[in-house]
Amino acid sequence: MPARIENDTLLRALAREATPYTPVWLMRQAGRYLPEYNATRARAGDFLSLAKTPALATEVTLQPLERYPLDAAILFSDILTVPDAMGLGLEFSSGEGPRFARPLQDEAAIANLSAPDPSRELRYVLDAVREIRRALGGRVPLIGFSGSPYTLACYMVEGAGSSDWRRLKTMLYARPDLLHRVLAVNAQAVTDYLNAQIEAGAQAVMIFDTWGGTLSNAGYETFSLGYTRRVIAALRGEAEGRRVPCILFTKGGGQWLEAMAASGADALGLDWTTDPHAARRRVGSRVALQGNLDPMALLAPHAVIRGQVRQVLDAFGPAPGHVFNLGHGISQFTAPDAVAELVDEVRTYSRKLRARLAG
Ligand code: CP3
Repeated sequence: MPARIENDTLLRALAREATPYTPVWLMRQAGRYLPEYNATRARAGDFLSLAKTPALATEVTLQPLERYPLDAAILFSDILTVPDAMGLGLEFSSGEGPRFARPLQDEAAIANLSAPDPSRELRYVLDAVREIRRALGGRVPLIGFSGSPYTLACYMVEGAGSSDWRRLKTMLYARPDLLHRVLAVNAQAVTDYLNAQIEAGAQAVMIFDTWGGTLSNAGYETFSLGYTRRVIAALRGEAEGRRVPCILFTKGGGQWLEAMAASGADALGLDWTTDPHAARRRVGSRVALQGNLDPMALLAPHAVIRGQVRQVLDAFGPAPGHVFNLGHGISQFTAPDAVAELVDEVRTYSRKLRARLAG
């Protein structure tokens, strides 16, 4: 018997079943816009200590759920824990983005790269998943996640974030064999990592391909989607007697939706530049869709936020298979009240839309 989930609206929508309202969660829903998050992070000392301490990761995962009636929890962690476990030495200096002490910049380092054993090097993540599941007590499903093989490779080769990914692109064009080797190791690492999260209790998984949209049209298939497809094909699709759906999000991937829909993913995340109505027409009923309010809309007055939420719901339409989300992570400059407005408008307006359809 599957363990009961009090609110399984998210899983129903991901399976494209009818729901009484549109489920909602937000990328980066636990984060710096919440004063209680900043307080816990200060207690931990820094971001990585927070992510590596299961009790504190559990605490911040639950913080947004205590404030808002969200329909899912997302594991508090980071995509870069995987290359950290491969020995690249992840650092987050305050005020700056992530940086690796030992990026992949020569052939020897790439030849020596191997996929970590998640039950050892990423044990703290699996412990956090188990502890979060206990703390949730079946209220809402828990989403696990990973970066895509390509997005992880971007940081691993570049050594940090970048506006042009110059080192990565140089390798891609000059020594594609080296990049393919990194991507093959990453595909194995991501597969093992997501399967370990599912075994520990993740009830859905999401693959963040944040930088796939920076590839050329042909490059997207060769360097990103091809490897993500391998990962999806090797995922444990079921746990606790239930399907564990996989959501694929490629920021800037709006022109490749047909290919993404054929990847084996159960759902596609859309960024805010994509037209939801056209997206639904293009992918048919093969996948659920998630998105896609511009995160910056949350900086506007409350009435504007509500209007923008209605516009997104109208664009997706009342048919089953929509999960409301932002088109990318929430900005740290968002007022917590703005999120309350968003969640309330999704609930009330999506119920109204369904009533209108039924009447
Ligand atoms: O969604 C959630 O609430 C779960 C937690 C989560 C974090 N990072 C916590 C975090 C998730 C799902 C991520 C994914 C992630 N991390 C991605 C893919 C999604 C995306 O946003 O595109 C990427 C590219 C990263 C890498 C990363 N981590 C960057 C570039 C940065 C610094 C810049 C930034 O946006 O903050 C981080 C740090 C990070 N990861 C923070 C949080 C809450 C902020 C760090 C802090 O608290 O000091």
